[in-house]
Amino acid sequence: MVDATNANAPLCALEDVPDGGGLEPVPAILVVRRGAQAWAYRNVCPHFSIPLNYEPNTFWAYGGELVMCAHHSAMFRFEDGACVDGPCLGARLTAVPIRIENGTIMLDDTEAGT
Ligand code: FES
Repeated sequence: MVDATNANAPLCALEDVPDGGGLEPVPAILVVRRGAQAWAYRNVCPHFSIPLNYEPNTFWAYGGELVMCAHHSAMFRFEDGACVDGPCLGARLTAVPIRIENGTIMLDDTEAGT
């Protein structure tokens, strides 16, 4: 089990995350991936402060660009977590800083977390 409280802890392999989709490798952290890029967020929808998904590790993503909240269909950009459509338009997911090292996604306490 990954210790998500440990900055610089490995979360998962990049390849574990579906290309164009999302994975929750540790509780409450969502990783989305497009090719060799990945971004991580707290798995908390800013609309009602509940997880984006109903089922474990089932995230609805579109075109490798957007992930949708399963509750009221808010759409969030992979790159910055901004809600671009839905009931919390303009809100953002909370970024979790990560880096990719030799194909492994690591928590990263050296980034500001944009
Ligand atoms: S809880 Fe996510 S859109 Fe409403």
